[in-house]
Amino acid sequence: MDPIALFQQHFYSLSPPSIISVPGRVNLIGEHIDYHNLPVLPMAIQRHIRIAFRPRKDRRIRAVSRQFGSREFEWNGPLEPSAAGDWVNYVKAAAQAVDGKWKTSVGIDAAVASDLPAAAGLSSSSALLTAFTLALLAANRIRASFEELMEVLPEGEYFVGTRGGGMDHAAVLAPDPGCALLVHFSPLSAESIPVPRDWAFLVAHSMVAAEKSGEVREKYNSRRVAGSTALKTVGFDSYGQAVSRHSFEDLKRLAAEKLDGDELKCFLHVTGESCRVGAAVEAMMQDDIEAFGALLDASHESLRYLLGVSCPELDELVEAAREAGAFGARLTGAGFGGCAVIACHSANREEVARELVDRFYSKREGFDASRHLIFAEPSAGALHV
Ligand code: GLA
Repeated sequence: MDPIALFQQHFYSLSPPSIISVPGRVNLIGEHIDYHNLPVLPMAIQRHIRIAFRPRKDRRIRAVSRQFGSREFEWNGPLEPSAAGDWVNYVKAAAQAVDGKWKTSVGIDAAVASDLPAAAGLSSSSALLTAFTLALLAANRIRASFEELMEVLPEGEYFVGTRGGGMDHAAVLAPDPGCALLVHFSPLSAESIPVPRDWAFLVAHSMVAAEKSGEVREKYNSRRVAGSTALKTVGFDSYGQAVSRHSFEDLKRLAAEKLDGDELKCFLHVTGESCRVGAAVEAMMQDDIEAFGALLDASHESLRYLLGVSCPELDELVEAAREAGAFGARLTGAGFGGCAVIACHSANREEVARELVDRFYSKREGFDASRHLIFAEPSAGALHV
């Protein structure tokens, strides 16, 4: 994974190009609640998207990836998205995001390389958007703060056709090495929570692709809408207000009086998951991996039975992880396929991984450990690399 060699091959330059490095992320807990502005606890991992770039003298942007080929466009005024699925859309989204907030004068020549697998639930698309945004800002000598970047990046994702919350961008930008990141959204803040040294996390793929397009996007949005409608019906202005003023037991009672069906279930997931995030931060600070693991398990049950975003393969994977000796496991990210995050002791992680291969992956075609079973180390976000 060397973007410099690729850069020199395509854009030869006497002086060395600049480098931007943006990690992937895994969400430890706090699922499907970032878009309701409730706190989440992701961490950055040791896989990265790296861009070697140099500023140009004009406003052209040229970008090359060994895997996806080269693209170029003129960065003047509003941009039109290219065909759906074309990777240039991430570059355009970055250009558009930067334009919305800052004054720029030059484009870039850029080469991208990555050891962060795509479509593996590790936020490679947010990392790519973030990396190009940082490269364009650096080329124009603009220093942007975390808060400013968080104003434009989640919106930028919209240009590419997806719109989640802000968790992924916060997670690839702000973590300190060795720490998870407690992200509050309203108002925005990020707090480092040190991960105890003998804790380990595995990110295991269910071998079901969680495409961010089409049907999955509709399902994701339907959960978001149901959660917002439920909130209004119960009579709160925000979920933050609901969980700060009432215990979960109270909220359950209030919800049962006014809601039923999917809206009731959504409301219970969102408020319950928010309580679990608080408890998980506490467990991490107390070095209580058993309590942390139990919260992961409870989160999975809630995502499975209340929110309905799991799938049989993810359920089987999570079950296999528990049988393999993990303290807890749950689906991570949007769900509907993708990955599970698994907590165990560092000393046991190889054994848990071996058992998982035996119990889950040995029955499946196409398993590749480097993409599908990753030891996730708590790593530095792009602002600290
Ligand atoms: C996707 C989105 C995130 C978040 C998760 C669910 O990964 O990009 O913002 O909503 O789903 O927690």
